[in-house]
Amino acid sequence: MDDYYETSLKQNMLNAIGSIRSDVEVSGYSVWRSEESLNLIENSRKQYLKLFKSLPLHPQTEKFKPDNLETNPWRKLCVGASNGIGDPYAQFLTTTYLNDSNINYGALSSLFDLMIVMRNTLTGMPVEFGKDSESCGYWNACRIHHYPRGGGFMSEHRDTHFPSVLDKDGIPFLQVMACLSKPNEHFDEGGGFIRSKKGIKVPLDNTESYGSFVFFDGAMRHGVDTVDAHIIPDFLSPLGRVAAFANLYEIL
Ligand SMILES: [Fe+2]
Repeated sequence: MDDYYETSLKQNMLNAIGSIRSDVEVSGYSVWRSEESLNLIENSRKQYLKLFKSLPLHPQTEKFKPDNLETNPWRKLCVGASNGIGDPYAQFLTTTYLNDSNINYGALSSLFDLMIVMRNTLTGMPVEFGKDSESCGYWNACRIHHYPRGGGFMSEHRDTHFPSVLDKDGIPFLQVMACLSKPNEHFDEGGGFIRSKKGIKVPLDNTESYGSFVFFDGAMRHGVDTVDAHIIPDFLSPLGRVAAFANLYEIL
């Protein structure tokens, strides 16, 4: 993606801030998509698929240093009855953490930069917040969630840990997700969902979702339904449900 499209996409998304914010306030979520976002996300997917196979897969509890991500992206299993911070919801996926400003990532760097700008703008934070982690106490946890066909899932839950950490510093919490996989092509069944305020399940993976950004209130119940339970999982397969996130994590 060249600079023109990148600038144009960012400007178009920033122009939509008002409607995205109002959708999130009223409905708890907002979906935004354009030809340019599809282009960026398709290129990001290609880059991720090239990268992830070369990375060793680490167990869930093995620690890594965010400072080292620039040279060593970290791919880990997230499998168990609780998540990595001990919240009691089960999951089965791999997560690949990347440094957002690594120029070697090209499209992925542009994708994460855009997600950070949107998150910070929508939450009223300085646009660059999280980039200089030493001064602000947080880092941008830029990562790809990959739910393998053959049982990938995340139990329905509300986000609690990170909202409460951020709240102590007066920082609002908002989930920003990019949809990097296409239902019926990359997986057959299952996928992400959010519960509406009325409790109705709203699928986040549908025929229109590939190439879109989803902004949602993590206090709404959400999760990932089991992806293709009829086959055996393969952690090196490019198939499955894939999504990118860029949350603020505290420096531990
Ligand atoms: Fe969550």
